Amino acid sequence: MMICAAGAVLCGCSQKDPQLGKAPVDKIVKAMTLEEKAMFVIGMGMETPDNGQTAVVGTTEDLVPGAAGTTRAIPRLGIPSIVLADGPAGLRINPTREGDDATYYCTHFPIGTLLASTWNQELVESVGESMGQEVHEYGVDVYLAPALNIHRNPLNGRNFEYYSEDPIVAGKTAAAYVRGVQKNDVGTSVKHFAYNNQETNRTANDARISPRAQREIYLKGFEIVVKESDPWTIMTSYNKLNGTYTSQRRDLVTTVLRDEWGFKGTVMTDWYGGDDAAAQMHAGNDMIQPGRASQYDQIVNAVKNGTLDEADLDLCVKRILNLILRSPRFKGYAYSNKPDLTAHAAVTRQSALEGMVLLENKNATLPLKNVKNVAVFGCTSYDFIAGGTGSGNVNRAYTVSLLDGLKNGGYNVDESFKSIYEKYIAEETEKAKAANAGDPLAAFLPVPRPTEYLPTSAQIASAVKNNDLAIITYGRNSGEFLDRTPADFELSAQEKTLLKNVTDAFHRAGKKVVVVLNVGGVIETASWKNIPDAVLLAWQAGQEGGNSVTDILSGKQSPSGKLPMTFPVNLMDHASSKNFPMGGDAKIYFTERRVDVGEKDVDYTNYEEGIYVGYRWFDKQNMEVSYPFGYGLSYTTFDYSNPTVSNDGKTVTASVTVKNTGSFEGKEAVQLYVSAPASSLDKPVKELKAYAKTKSLKPGEEQTLTMTFATADLASFDESKSAWVVDAGTYKFLFGASSRDIRGEATAEVAAQETKVNDVLK
Ligand code: BGC
Repeated sequence: MMICAAGAVLCGCSQKDPQLGKAPVDKIVKAMTLEEKAMFVIGMGMETPDNGQTAVVGTTEDLVPGAAGTTRAIPRLGIPSIVLADGPAGLRINPTREGDDATYYCTHFPIGTLLASTWNQELVESVGESMGQEVHEYGVDVYLAPALNIHRNPLNGRNFEYYSEDPIVAGKTAAAYVRGVQKNDVGTSVKHFAYNNQETNRTANDARISPRAQREIYLKGFEIVVKESDPWTIMTSYNKLNGTYTSQRRDLVTTVLRDEWGFKGTVMTDWYGGDDAAAQMHAGNDMIQPGRASQYDQIVNAVKNGTLDEADLDLCVKRILNLILRSPRFKGYAYSNKPDLTAHAAVTRQSALEGMVLLENKNATLPLKNVKNVAVFGCTSYDFIAGGTGSGNVNRAYTVSLLDGLKNGGYNVDESFKSIYEKYIAEETEKAKAANAGDPLAAFLPVPRPTEYLPTSAQIASAVKNNDLAIITYGRNSGEFLDRTPADFELSAQEKTLLKNVTDAFHRAGKKVVVVLNVGGVIETASWKNIPDAVLLAWQAGQEGGNSVTDILSGKQSPSGKLPMTFPVNLMDHASSKNFPMGGDAKIYFTERRVDVGEKDVDYTNYEEGIYVGYRWFDKQNMEVSYPFGYGLSYTTFDYSNPTVSNDGKTVTASVTVKNTGSFEGKEAVQLYVSAPASSLDKPVKELKAYAKTKSLKPGEEQTLTMTFATADLASFDESKSAWVVDAGTYKFLFGASSRDIRGEATAEVAAQETKVNDVLK
């Protein structure tokens, strides 16, 4: 026995040992000792604060510095390590390396929410393809993305990584993303499976959810990705479901994911997720990342004392071996470390345009006309946000600020504010950092945004005099570990004062004001949206943000993004707000887990609203919203005609003709909602079933969009039968420009159908 050079693996190297890739996988598994298997299913470990290091959001130094993890090599069997790295707004690795002059920057693409706001699956696929190229060329094998947990509540700190309050938008967007990335022969890890809808106490929170809400809302998107894009891996979530960690639930990881949906790949934990390695193996959660010594002991002991069947462990080992076999590293891919960052900067700039949502545009303020000189207000204009924080951050070479974007677009920006803002932001940031100094989480949390700066009335007066227009940017940032707070949802008193002071002064002079929202999630808009002349929801658009915003403002392209979630009037209007943590305290520790003291929304969260998430709730209540799900303005107008639908019992086919009736070229995203006939089950007023986007239509041009989906997808989940049930009757198909702007309707008769599934997930 000896220690192999590649790692702390005990082995007895011998010529006769079967080699991965040459011998069948079963033979390799057979040749492994119990100890080797237990080592193999846990990752290579990672520094934690308790060993004096500070890296927690996944970094490893070997193979690809800054990657989140690696698998363990077993040289005697020809098994190499492969590399796993984050996602999802671009690859996250270290940009520089010790003793190396080269740089390893990655492209910061738009955040997930912006990609979902494009309602354009082809575009998302092409962005995924560029991301995957960076993954491949930087020597990474599995990209830990996409992330598609449901936007259950606006305050989830990681909503920016996720897509939508609707599972069809989430699932279709994620499937397109996976197809794009995997075109490069690298893997994805679809995360976080499942119900990871809050950050507060995320490693111990128990999500208590009915099987119906799970099947229809929280699992549906994952089901779509698995069936439509064949991801190489899935990452289980940190939280528990109805009392048991998701990574330890065999019904979730094996019965539903593999047996019902046909998933063929490998499952891994989230970093340090779960508390029982043997239970994870039995569940079919093949790989435990980043791995700790105690997990090795748990597995070996469980096999020895008979509580874990070695056959379960063998299956996990086999599935990791199959993953390694398809990896670029195993195939010996000679990566260049030189992805085409220039081409990808163009991809991120262009793709961001389609996900920005025009919320207000009084008197056709946008695109800008006769505007040359621009006064820019709001700290965020000078400190543009590319994306959120935590593992979803990307080490990019630069971020184009709004100021630079405007200048690049040929505008004269009033420079008199620049130094004032920059000095103010630097001072406020230092103060915020100092206030957080003792907090062990501080290094991983977003630095609080500066309190908004209020220019004096003399400063504003001079801005009015010297400029044709004012732009105010408001920013919000959030990320891993921490949920947002109700205060973060509202505009602050200073932000409101700034808006009033600037608009009053500019309007008096007959000049306009545009608000840009550089945010990662939903904020309050109802109380102030009518004050400025236009509001552009730019989201966090990646490293080219300032250029992308300018392209929209100047009319290089019409906005065509639509909201993948509702903007409520009040935060508490959401049904989920009754059962969501609002305290602004992470309640998590890195090396230990919080002791369960039964605190509501922290130790457990009741998903009391069931399936009534987002528009399903607002429609049921007939409640006023600030902006409905699916909403977004354009620089042109569209007319919908000839709505038709047919159903052959297997497939529903719906089509509608969309004509550009305005004077600006643009694209339109059409949403197909279904209203079911009366049923013994409580049903939403309507539910999205499909969507499509036109090509860029010239004024007067039209296009017929055809959308199809399986008739079986009209079903609701009946818990009493544990079955998906389609009721017989007349279904209404609604063609919407948004969920509250239905432009065409057709009906079809549908016969009853029932599909039984396993009675699990309780
Ligand atoms: C995050 C995952 C991420 C992993 C590795 C965890 O903290 O929840 O999304 O992939 O770290 O960095």
